Amino acid sequence: MNKALRRPVIAGNWKMNKTPDEAKALIEEMKPLVADADCDVVVCVPYVDIPAALEATAGSNIKVGAENCHWAESGAFTAEISAPMLKAVGVPYVIIGHSERRQYFGETDVTVNKRTKAALASGLKVILCVGELLEQREQGITEEVVRYQTKIALGDVSAEDLKNVIIAYEPVWAIGTGRTATAEQANEVNAAIRACIAELYGKDAADATVIQYGGSMNAKNAAELLAQPDVDGGLIGGASLKAQDFSVIVKAASV
Ligand code: PGA
Repeated sequence: MNKALRRPVIAGNWKMNKTPDEAKALIEEMKPLVADADCDVVVCVPYVDIPAALEATAGSNIKVGAENCHWAESGAFTAEISAPMLKAVGVPYVIIGHSERRQYFGETDVTVNKRTKAALASGLKVILCVGELLEQREQGITEEVVRYQTKIALGDVSAEDLKNVIIAYEPVWAIGTGRTATAEQANEVNAAIRACIAELYGKDAADATVIQYGGSMNAKNAAELLAQPDVDGGLIGGASLKAQDFSVIVKAASV
Protein backbone atom coordinates (compact mmCIF):
# COMPACT_ATOMS: atom_id res chain seq x y z
CA MET A 1 0.00 0.00 0.00
CA ASN A 2 2.71 2.46 0.98
CA LYS A 3 4.51 1.65 -2.23
CA ALA A 4 1.84 3.62 -4.07
CA LEU A 5 3.13 6.74 -2.30
CA ARG A 6 6.41 6.51 -4.17
CA ARG A 7 7.16 7.05 -7.86
CA PRO A 8 9.77 4.52 -8.97
CA VAL A 9 13.08 5.81 -10.28
CA ILE A 10 15.09 3.83 -12.82
CA ALA A 11 18.59 5.25 -13.12
CA GLY A 12 21.35 4.10 -15.41
CA ASN A 13 24.90 4.27 -14.12
CA TRP A 14 27.09 4.31 -17.19
CA LYS A 15 30.33 4.27 -15.14
CA MET A 16 33.41 4.92 -17.33
CA ASN A 17 31.71 4.12 -20.62
CA LYS A 18 30.73 6.08 -23.77
CA THR A 19 32.26 9.07 -25.51
CA PRO A 20 30.00 12.11 -26.05
CA ASP A 21 29.07 10.92 -29.54
CA GLU A 22 28.30 7.44 -28.24
CA ALA A 23 26.29 8.94 -25.37
CA LYS A 24 24.20 10.93 -27.81
CA ALA A 25 23.57 7.86 -29.97
CA LEU A 26 22.54 5.72 -26.99
CA ILE A 27 20.15 8.37 -25.69
CA GLU A 28 18.61 8.84 -29.13
CA GLU A 29 17.99 5.10 -29.24
CA MET A 30 16.50 5.12 -25.73
CA LYS A 31 14.20 8.11 -26.09
CA PRO A 32 11.36 6.51 -28.08
CA LEU A 33 11.64 3.28 -26.08
CA VAL A 34 11.05 4.98 -22.70
CA ALA A 35 8.84 7.88 -23.82
CA ASP A 36 5.71 6.46 -22.19
CA ALA A 37 7.38 5.48 -18.90
CA ASP A 38 5.30 5.79 -15.76
CA CYS A 39 8.38 6.22 -13.59
CA ASP A 40 11.29 8.65 -13.43
CA VAL A 41 14.10 7.82 -15.84
CA VAL A 42 17.65 9.03 -15.24
CA VAL A 43 20.97 8.39 -16.99
CA CYS A 44 24.09 9.08 -14.91
CA VAL A 45 26.97 9.65 -17.28
CA PRO A 46 30.69 10.50 -17.22
CA TYR A 47 31.34 14.22 -16.66
CA VAL A 48 32.53 14.84 -20.23
CA ASP A 49 29.31 13.34 -21.61
CA ILE A 50 27.07 15.68 -19.62
CA PRO A 51 26.68 18.43 -22.26
CA ALA A 52 25.88 15.89 -25.00
CA ALA A 53 23.47 14.05 -22.70
CA LEU A 54 21.67 17.26 -21.70
CA GLU A 55 21.31 18.22 -25.33
CA ALA A 56 20.10 14.80 -26.42
CA THR A 57 17.57 14.50 -23.56
CA ALA A 58 16.15 18.04 -23.90
CA GLY A 59 12.37 17.90 -24.18
CA SER A 60 12.28 14.18 -23.32
CA ASN A 61 11.38 12.41 -20.09
CA ILE A 62 14.99 11.32 -19.50
CA LYS A 63 16.91 13.23 -16.81
CA VAL A 64 20.70 13.42 -16.58
CA GLY A 65 22.88 12.69 -13.57
CA ALA A 66 26.56 12.81 -12.73
CA GLU A 67 28.40 9.93 -11.06
CA ASN A 68 29.97 11.86 -8.18
CA CYS A 69 30.74 15.36 -6.92
CA HIS A 70 33.17 16.92 -4.48
CA TRP A 71 32.14 18.46 -1.14
CA ALA A 72 33.91 21.80 -1.59
CA GLU A 73 32.47 24.55 -3.78
CA SER A 74 35.83 25.15 -5.43
CA GLY A 75 39.52 24.95 -4.60
CA ALA A 76 42.71 22.97 -4.95
CA PHE A 77 41.21 19.53 -5.63
CA THR A 78 42.74 18.49 -8.92
CA ALA A 79 40.37 16.54 -11.19
CA GLU A 80 37.36 16.91 -8.91
CA ILE A 81 34.02 18.47 -9.90
CA SER A 82 31.89 20.43 -7.45
CA ALA A 83 28.16 20.33 -6.87
CA PRO A 84 27.70 24.00 -7.91
CA MET A 85 29.49 23.17 -11.19
CA LEU A 86 27.00 20.38 -11.87
CA LYS A 87 24.13 22.66 -10.95
CA ALA A 88 25.48 25.35 -13.26
CA VAL A 89 25.47 23.06 -16.29
CA GLY A 90 21.93 21.93 -15.48
CA VAL A 91 22.43 18.44 -14.09
CA PRO A 92 19.62 17.49 -11.67
CA TYR A 93 20.93 14.20 -10.23
CA VAL A 94 24.20 12.88 -8.82
CA ILE A 95 25.25 9.45 -7.57
CA ILE A 96 27.16 9.55 -4.26
CA GLY A 97 28.98 6.76 -2.46
CA HIS A 98 29.00 4.15 -5.21
CA SER A 99 30.85 1.05 -4.04
CA GLU A 100 33.42 1.46 -6.82
CA ARG A 101 34.29 4.88 -5.37
CA ARG A 102 34.53 3.32 -1.91
CA GLN A 103 36.56 0.30 -3.12
CA TYR A 104 38.95 1.85 -5.60
CA PHE A 105 39.11 5.53 -4.67
CA GLY A 106 39.18 5.53 -0.90
CA GLU A 107 35.75 7.02 -0.30
CA THR A 108 34.60 6.65 3.27
CA ASP A 109 31.25 7.06 4.98
CA VAL A 110 32.45 10.46 6.15
CA THR A 111 33.34 11.73 2.66
CA VAL A 112 30.08 10.27 1.37
CA ASN A 113 28.28 12.37 3.98
CA LYS A 114 30.23 15.49 3.00
CA ARG A 115 29.52 14.99 -0.69
CA THR A 116 25.85 14.28 0.02
CA LYS A 117 25.45 17.49 2.01
CA ALA A 118 27.23 19.53 -0.66
CA ALA A 119 25.06 18.10 -3.43
CA LEU A 120 21.87 18.78 -1.49
CA ALA A 121 23.00 22.31 -0.64
CA SER A 122 23.36 22.95 -4.38
CA GLY A 123 19.85 21.68 -5.05
CA LEU A 124 20.87 18.38 -6.64
CA LYS A 125 18.99 15.15 -6.13
CA VAL A 126 21.27 12.53 -4.63
CA ILE A 127 21.30 8.81 -5.41
CA LEU A 128 23.05 7.58 -2.28
CA CYS A 129 24.57 4.11 -2.53
CA VAL A 130 24.94 1.70 0.36
CA GLY A 131 25.64 -2.02 0.41
CA GLU A 132 27.53 -4.81 2.09
CA LEU A 133 30.57 -6.78 0.96
CA LEU A 134 30.24 -10.53 0.41
CA GLU A 135 32.11 -11.34 3.63
CA GLN A 136 29.84 -9.03 5.58
CA ARG A 137 26.78 -10.86 4.24
CA GLU A 138 28.40 -14.17 5.10
CA GLN A 139 29.07 -12.89 8.63
CA GLY A 140 25.39 -12.02 8.96
CA ILE A 141 26.00 -8.30 9.45
CA THR A 142 24.35 -6.96 6.28
CA GLU A 143 21.70 -4.94 8.08
CA GLU A 144 24.19 -3.45 10.55
CA VAL A 145 26.44 -2.42 7.67
CA VAL A 146 23.75 -0.71 5.61
CA ARG A 147 22.25 0.95 8.68
CA TYR A 148 25.67 2.28 9.65
CA GLN A 149 26.37 3.55 6.12
CA THR A 150 22.92 5.13 5.86
CA LYS A 151 23.14 6.87 9.22
CA ILE A 152 26.56 8.36 8.61
CA ALA A 153 25.73 9.38 5.04
CA LEU A 154 22.62 11.20 6.25
CA GLY A 155 24.29 12.90 9.24
CA ASP A 156 23.11 16.53 9.41
CA VAL A 157 20.77 16.05 6.44
CA SER A 158 17.46 17.75 7.27
CA ALA A 159 14.05 16.16 6.77
CA GLU A 160 13.44 18.73 4.04
CA ASP A 161 16.64 17.74 2.22
CA LEU A 162 15.84 14.04 2.63
CA LYS A 163 13.08 14.59 0.05
CA ASN A 164 15.87 14.96 -2.50
CA VAL A 165 17.61 11.74 -1.50
CA ILE A 166 17.09 8.42 -3.23
CA ILE A 167 18.82 5.49 -1.57
CA ALA A 168 20.25 2.72 -3.73
CA TYR A 169 20.86 -0.57 -1.94
CA GLU A 170 23.65 -2.21 -3.90
CA PRO A 171 25.17 -5.36 -2.43
CA VAL A 172 28.80 -5.13 -3.55
CA TRP A 173 28.91 -8.84 -4.43
CA ALA A 174 26.10 -8.31 -6.93
CA ILE A 175 27.60 -5.39 -8.84
CA GLY A 176 28.80 -6.29 -12.30
CA THR A 177 29.02 -9.95 -11.31
CA GLY A 178 25.83 -11.28 -12.85
CA ARG A 179 25.00 -12.52 -9.35
CA THR A 180 21.79 -10.71 -8.37
CA ALA A 181 20.34 -10.61 -4.89
CA THR A 182 17.12 -12.59 -4.78
CA ALA A 183 13.97 -10.51 -4.72
CA GLU A 184 13.52 -11.49 -1.07
CA GLN A 185 17.09 -10.49 -0.13
CA ALA A 186 16.68 -7.13 -1.89
CA ASN A 187 13.35 -6.46 -0.24
CA GLU A 188 14.58 -7.46 3.19
CA VAL A 189 17.51 -5.02 3.13
CA ASN A 190 15.47 -2.24 1.52
CA ALA A 191 12.91 -2.68 4.32
CA ALA A 192 15.70 -2.46 6.91
CA ILE A 193 16.93 0.78 5.32
CA ARG A 194 13.39 2.14 5.38
CA ALA A 195 13.10 1.23 9.08
CA CYS A 196 16.36 3.09 9.68
CA ILE A 197 14.95 6.16 7.87
CA ALA A 198 11.82 5.90 10.02
CA GLU A 199 13.97 5.95 13.18
CA LEU A 200 15.83 9.01 11.94
CA TYR A 201 13.02 11.01 10.31
CA GLY A 202 9.69 9.36 11.18
CA LYS A 203 7.38 6.99 9.38
CA ASP A 204 5.95 9.46 6.86
CA ALA A 205 9.42 10.39 5.64
CA ALA A 206 10.34 6.70 5.43
CA ASP A 207 7.19 5.94 3.44
CA ALA A 208 8.04 8.73 1.02
CA THR A 209 11.70 7.77 0.46
CA VAL A 210 12.54 6.02 -2.79
CA ILE A 211 14.83 3.04 -2.14
CA GLN A 212 16.24 1.38 -5.23
CA TYR A 213 17.96 -1.95 -5.68
CA GLY A 214 21.11 -2.19 -7.78
CA GLY A 215 23.44 -5.03 -8.68
CA SER A 216 23.08 -7.01 -11.90
CA MET A 217 19.50 -5.89 -12.40
CA ASN A 218 18.64 -6.73 -15.98
CA ALA A 219 15.80 -7.15 -18.45
CA LYS A 220 15.10 -10.67 -17.17
CA ASN A 221 15.09 -10.19 -13.40
CA ALA A 222 13.83 -6.60 -13.12
CA ALA A 223 10.11 -7.33 -12.93
CA GLU A 224 10.44 -9.65 -9.95
CA LEU A 225 12.76 -7.30 -8.07
CA LEU A 226 10.65 -4.23 -8.80
CA ALA A 227 7.47 -5.98 -7.69
CA GLN A 228 8.79 -6.17 -4.11
CA PRO A 229 7.00 -3.84 -1.70
CA ASP A 230 10.15 -2.01 -0.61
CA VAL A 231 11.96 -1.90 -3.96
CA ASP A 232 11.12 1.43 -5.60
CA GLY A 233 13.29 1.31 -8.67
CA GLY A 234 16.77 0.37 -9.74
CA LEU A 235 20.27 1.64 -10.27
CA ILE A 236 21.40 -0.16 -13.38
CA GLY A 237 24.98 -0.54 -14.58
CA GLY A 238 25.68 -2.94 -17.43
CA ALA A 239 22.09 -3.22 -18.66
CA SER A 240 21.77 0.58 -18.88
CA LEU A 241 24.26 0.58 -21.76
CA LYS A 242 21.78 -1.29 -23.96
CA ALA A 243 18.76 0.80 -24.92
CA GLN A 244 16.49 -2.19 -25.39
CA ASP A 245 17.36 -3.82 -22.05
CA PHE A 246 17.13 -0.52 -20.19
CA SER A 247 13.69 0.12 -21.66
CA VAL A 248 12.46 -3.30 -20.54
CA ILE A 249 13.50 -2.39 -16.98
CA VAL A 250 11.79 1.00 -17.28
CA LYS A 251 8.61 -0.75 -18.44
CA ALA A 252 8.81 -3.22 -15.55
CA ALA A 253 8.89 -0.26 -13.13
CA SER A 254 5.97 1.41 -14.86
CA VAL A 255 3.27 -1.18 -14.16
P1 PGA B 1 25.51 -3.56 -12.56
O1 PGA B 1 25.96 -2.22 -11.79
O2 PGA B 1 24.05 -3.37 -12.91
O3 PGA B 1 26.39 -3.63 -13.76
O4 PGA B 1 25.70 -4.68 -11.60
C1 PGA B 1 25.11 -1.60 -10.88
C2 PGA B 1 25.80 -0.40 -10.31
O5 PGA B 1 27.04 -0.44 -10.14
O6 PGA B 1 25.16 0.63 -10.01
